[in-house]
Amino acid sequence: MDLKLNGKDISAGLLFLVTIVFLRLVWGLLAQKSRRRLPPTVKTFPLIGGLLRFMKGPIVMVREEYAKLGSVFTVNLLNRRVTFFIGPEVSSHFFKAPESDLSQQEVYQFNVPTFGPGVVFDVDYSVRQEQFRFFTEALRVNKLKSYVDQMVFEAEDYFSKWGDVGTVDLKYELEHLIILTASRCLLGREVRDKLFDDVSALFHDLDNGMRPISVLFPYLPIPAHRQRDRARARISEIFESIIKSRKCSGYSEDDMLQCFIDSKYKNGRPTTEGEITGLLIAALFAGQHTSSITSTWTGAYLLKYKEYMSAAIEEQKNLMKKYGDKVNHDILSEMDVLYRCIKEALRLHPPLIMLLRQSHSDFTVKTREGVEYDIPKGHIVATSPAFANRLPYIYKEPDRYDPDRFSPGREEDKAAGQFSYISFGGGRHGCLGEPFAYLQIKAIWSHLIRNFEFELVSPFPEIDWNAMVVGVKGQVMVRYKRRMLSIVE
Ligand code: HEM
Repeated sequence: MDLKLNGKDISAGLLFLVTIVFLRLVWGLLAQKSRRRLPPTVKTFPLIGGLLRFMKGPIVMVREEYAKLGSVFTVNLLNRRVTFFIGPEVSSHFFKAPESDLSQQEVYQFNVPTFGPGVVFDVDYSVRQEQFRFFTEALRVNKLKSYVDQMVFEAEDYFSKWGDVGTVDLKYELEHLIILTASRCLLGREVRDKLFDDVSALFHDLDNGMRPISVLFPYLPIPAHRQRDRARARISEIFESIIKSRKCSGYSEDDMLQCFIDSKYKNGRPTTEGEITGLLIAALFAGQHTSSITSTWTGAYLLKYKEYMSAAIEEQKNLMKKYGDKVNHDILSEMDVLYRCIKEALRLHPPLIMLLRQSHSDFTVKTREGVEYDIPKGHIVATSPAFANRLPYIYKEPDRYDPDRFSPGREEDKAAGQFSYISFGGGRHGCLGEPFAYLQIKAIWSHLIRNFEFELVSPFPEIDWNAMVVGVKGQVMVRYKRRMLSIVE
């Protein structure tokens, strides 16, 4: 028998070997894929079922599915898979992951036509990080101290225009006061003193151009988007002229605008006028509705629960005994009772009900029950402050307004670790304006408590789930009577 192999035999043998290796590789990959422990998926009608449930009410859907599927589950929204992480154990990775694993850029793209080009979600993470450093600098304690003086001035001025008695819509009043304060502290004296009406009308159009539909289709040619674009262009012109005239005159102000003018990138490049404008718009969008909504909820709860209003009054009396009428950054920082009242309103009603990231790599999460899930690259990952802030294994009687749950000794917000309270997000992208927001709301409510008595005359407000920044539905009518808080026993 001739056992000699010719060239053809060798080629056939090699082909056979390569095929086997290839098949094993494919099989290995498939097996690995099928071994992946994917999160359970929400059962809905194919294609649009998930979207319909989501649109009907995302929090209702999260509540129902959390009860059925647990703390990690996926919902199919058209062609996207959105995986929810509920609770501090699983959301830890959401908050801590580096941008290369979980990023904001894609999911928050819809902000670009509003904030404008060259800033925040329109730039690479390395540039965005530098721009967020400008925010951090502009919100340092030494800056906050000067902003507080302006916040107090604005509150005194605004409420001096109220009569001795009257009935007002608290929501409307606080919205107006907060836009005035934000204008002064963030946008600067020129806008606040001379251009307030023009600029606030333009901001109104900008705001109106951010609709739920804008999240999916930010450039859809609808009237609201066209008006948004016109307003954005006009805001650019106004700010460019303000910035140029500040730069030319050489004078300097205590506001965020000045901080952004003075900011420089690592390579020494100063910020451009377009970037400054975009960053200011981003600051206003981040801080204005969120703060005004929180100040309204705080008021509604204080008026409903007399025992907490009495505790807040007592605190103001003690501070007045110590410092007289003076209110500044350090005095506001001593208002612990008021702080807890605001924090509890914000636990029950976080204005940003859903936080999102895009996953760029496969990773694993472990639930508090010890179950592990593999989250594939390409999923959108979501967490919900509105739902997670009311988890009963973290908060006792979670639906009850109980500011004392944050008091020393109880501190329920720390009981289950770092991410038990997420109204301000946390970790890598935690809110940079949190201290600013508390100071602003405290400046308003300490002034109101010291100078007025209130009674809620409309029913306790409901939640407006339809808004982009979720707030108070309808009016919040209160009757007020001017009186000086007496510190004489
Ligand atoms: C009650 C008021 C406020 C609430 C509830 C709030 C809430 C939040 C939340 C939840 C995030 C995280 C978003 C995410 O993880 O995707 C955030 C981020 C941020 N907030 Fe606030 N915010 C408030 C006020 C403010 C104010 C007054 C400013 C500025 C003046 C501000 C500036 C920012 C900025 C710059 C970020 C982005 C941080 C980053 O990505 O690194 N916020 N805020």
